[in-house]
Amino acid sequence: MKILITGGAGFIGTNLVAYLVKKGKKVRILDNLSREGTEKNLKWLKNLRGDLEVIIGDIQDEKKIRKAVKNVDVIYHLAAQVAVTSSVANPKEDFQVNALGTLNVLEAMRKFSPESVLIFSSTNKVYGETSNIKVIKSKKRYQYKDSEFAVTEDQPLDFYSPYGCSKGAADQYVRDYSRIYGLKTIVFRQSCIYGPHQFGNEDQGWVAHFAISALKKRKITIYGDGKQVRDILYIDDLAEAFWQAEKNIAKTKGKVYNIGGGRENSISLLEFISKLEKLTGKKISYSFADWRPGDQKIYISGIKRAKTGFGWEPVIKVDEGLKRLLNWVKKIL
Ligand SMILES: NC(=O)c1ccc[n+]([C@@H]2O[C@H](COP(=O)([O-])OP(=O)(O)OC[C@H]3O[C@@H](n4cnc5c(N)ncnc54)[C@H](O)[C@@H]3O)[C@@H](O)[C@H]2O)c1
Repeated sequence: MKILITGGAGFIGTNLVAYLVKKGKKVRILDNLSREGTEKNLKWLKNLRGDLEVIIGDIQDEKKIRKAVKNVDVIYHLAAQVAVTSSVANPKEDFQVNALGTLNVLEAMRKFSPESVLIFSSTNKVYGETSNIKVIKSKKRYQYKDSEFAVTEDQPLDFYSPYGCSKGAADQYVRDYSRIYGLKTIVFRQSCIYGPHQFGNEDQGWVAHFAISALKKRKITIYGDGKQVRDILYIDDLAEAFWQAEKNIAKTKGKVYNIGGGRENSISLLEFISKLEKLTGKKISYSFADWRPGDQKIYISGIKRAKTGFGWEPVIKVDEGLKRLLNWVKKIL
């Protein structure tokens, strides 16, 4: 079995490549190495000495994609412009990479690899601010008024921010290519993913950004009041979800799944900082700035569909995941 991972030198890609080569799979990466840290990730991956082929190229380059999809059985499409802030600064480039780039990948698949399976990393941002859901504020976090509530795949789409629009368009194309052309595609609407090999910064990857800042004793800016909540998911759990969804393709093809840590792994930024302080023994200094566009006060993924669909649920709890992340950060500093 040969597997293509677009964006394979990024955070999620690197971990997924490692997971797959450890299973003895043949993996091909297509990445333009535009994200900071990708060269380091690639070097680390090459040291694993697995069956790995690397194509340096852009998903905007149709010839490169054509070459990349040849003779593959599975495509994980992860390459993207990933920051909301950059999408606001440059919406056209964001569209070209995320929407058009995804269409390029789908077209190459349709023409040159129609039997393969494609799993797309979409985002919870396709649901927008989710302002129809009643929320209450407590001392350190926002909460859903209905404490049992979590966002299911039936939540209305409400693309917010250029990033939300470009990923949302891609999400819908991936889904539709299954309906219209009968391709085996799956959409994962991911919540915040965290773990090693994430070179997080202020624009994207806040969990790693906070962890790196804590160990570097760098001040953190919190956009909003810090009570916003996310259900964070450790990367190994995501890799397992990718694997299980692909293995159960007869049931999962054409479907959309919310994938996140769920209620048990939900945490506010302020709670996360307290946890980091305990684990590192360092006091973290931070200040507040204005909310960012489209930032949800609370987002918790409803993950029942993934559980019933392909038997997946997260197993790595926040404390354990955070310890593993900190161990990696210590190594790279
Ligand atoms: N990390 C998260 O919390 C999260 C949450 C929801 C969705 N996602 C989605 O998951 C995917 C992977 O995210 P990540 O966190 O690993 O980000 P990342 O930035 O670490 O990885 C993205 C990779 O894509 C590559 N890339 C960017 N533009 C490209 C282009 N035009 N052509 C080829 N390669 C290109 C980058 O060099 C990088 O290696 C993205 O599609 C992102 O939107 C991530």
